[in-house]
Amino acid sequence: MKKINLILSQALEKISPTEEELKGIEIKLEGFLKEIKKQISQLNISAEIFVGGSFAKGTVIKKEKYDIDIFLRFDKKYDKDALSSLTEKILSFGNFKKIHGSRDYFRIDASKNIIFEIIPVRKIKTPKEAENITDLSYFHVNYIKKKFRGRRILNEVRLAKAFCYSNKCYGAESYIRGFSGYGLEILIYYYGGFLNFIKKIVKADLRKKIIIDAGKFYKNKNSVLMDLNAAKLDSPIILIDPTYKHRNLLAALSEEKFQKFQKACRNFLANPNLDAFSIMKIDFKNLKENARKKKQDFVLLEAKTDKQEGDIAGSKLLKFYKALSNDIKKYFEIKTSEFEYAGNKTANFFFSVKNKGEIILSGPFLKDKKNSTKFRKKHKKVFEKRNRLYAKEKINFNLKEFLNKWKKENKLCMKDMNILKLEVKI
Ligand code: CTP
Ligand code: MG
Repeated sequence: MKKINLILSQALEKISPTEEELKGIEIKLEGFLKEIKKQISQLNISAEIFVGGSFAKGTVIKKEKYDIDIFLRFDKKYDKDALSSLTEKILSFGNFKKIHGSRDYFRIDASKNIIFEIIPVRKIKTPKEAENITDLSYFHVNYIKKKFRGRRILNEVRLAKAFCYSNKCYGAESYIRGFSGYGLEILIYYYGGFLNFIKKIVKADLRKKIIIDAGKFYKNKNSVLMDLNAAKLDSPIILIDPTYKHRNLLAALSEEKFQKFQKACRNFLANPNLDAFSIMKIDFKNLKENARKKKQDFVLLEAKTDKQEGDIAGSKLLKFYKALSNDIKKYFEIKTSEFEYAGNKTANFFFSVKNKGEIILSGPFLKDKKNSTKFRKKHKKVFEKRNRLYAKEKINFNLKEFLNKWKKENKLCMKDMNILKLEVKI
C-alpha cells in the first residue's frame, strides 16, 4: 500500500502543470479576453464570455499544448445559425481557424504551447433547453466548481485523467471512444478518489452494466434504463450527468476500451509504476529497441489525410490503420501495434511483428477461368482443393518491404479512404 501511495504522489508531481505554466496561460488569457470584450461592446452584440473546460475547473494536466476552452454565450434572440458568423466578427481582430462541426468552433494559436478554443453557444437557463452538448458545458463547470472543494479531489481527477491518457482511454471522440474529462470528474467524485475508482473497476463484472445515477435523479437503476432511450444505453458504464438527467455521460465508451481500461487498472494494482501515468507521446525509439531485443520487425508510419482536423480526420486515420492492420496480419503476426492521432491531419502507427514464414492464400474458384489463370501466373506454388485454387507463399520479405509494395498496389484504396500520404518513419 505504501508503495502505491508513493507512486501516486510522484505521478502527481509529474503530471501537474507548474505554477509558471498556469500563470503564463492566465496572462495570455487576460489580454485576449480584454480584446474580445472590446469587440463585443463595439459591435453591440449581446453575448457573455465564459471560461470553461479543465482550466476553469482546475483539472488541467501537463501537456505539450494547452487547449483553453472559452465559451461565448449568445443571447437567445439570435438564430442559432447566426452564431458562427457573429463569432467570426468578434474574432476578426486576429488570426483564427474555423472548425466545422455540429456547431462550428474556432482555434487561435496564442503561443507555441497555448491554444484558445472559442466555442459559440446559446445562453440557456436550464440544461433542458440545450440543443448541443456545448450548451451544457456551462452547467458542468459550475457544478464541478461547487462540488470540488480543496486540492485533494482535483489531484485525484488529475491522476485519473493522466492514467486514462497514458493507457489510451482518454477522450470521447469517435476515434478513441474512451472517458471524457467531465465523465472522469464525475466518476472520481462518485468514488471518492482515483484508487477506489480503479479498484471498483477491476471488480466489475463485464457481463453487467454499471449504472451510476450521480445526481440521484431516479428511484432505482431500473428507472434509469426505462427513461433513457436504447441508443444511450450501449456503453458498459451508464453515468447519468448530475446536471442533466437525460444524458449518459459515458455513452461514447466502447466495450473494447472498457476492457482495455480494466486490464490497465488490474496491471497497475498488481504492479504500481510511474509509467502508467506517462502523458508524453509514445517513445518510438524505445519501442523499436524493445522489438529488436525480442527479434521482432518494427516499423513506425505516419499517415496524412486531407479531411478536417479533429474528430473527422481522427476517424478516417483510425479506419485506415485498421484496414492496413488487416492486410499486414495476412503475412505477419502482429505482436504489438498502436494508433496515435497526432492532431491536425496526421497520425502515427507502429507495428511490431513476427514473420509468418509461410502462408496459404485462398484464390478464385476453378470455374472462374479468367482469374484462375491470373492467379496461377502470379503465384509459384498453386494447388487445388474443393474446386478452388490456393497458393503457398514464402514470406521472404520484411515488413518495410511489404509496406512499400503495399503502398504501390493500394494507391486507389488510399485515395478512397482520404489518405494523402503514408510514410515509413523508422
Ligand atoms: N464536454 C462534454 N462531453 C464531452 C466532451 C466535452 O460534456 N464528450 C464538455 C464538458 O463540459 C467539458 C467541455 O465540454 O468540460 C470541454 O471539453 P474538453 O476540452 O474535451 O474537456 P475538459 O474538461 O476541458 O478536459 P481537457 O483537460 O481534456 O481539455
Ligand atoms: Mg479542455
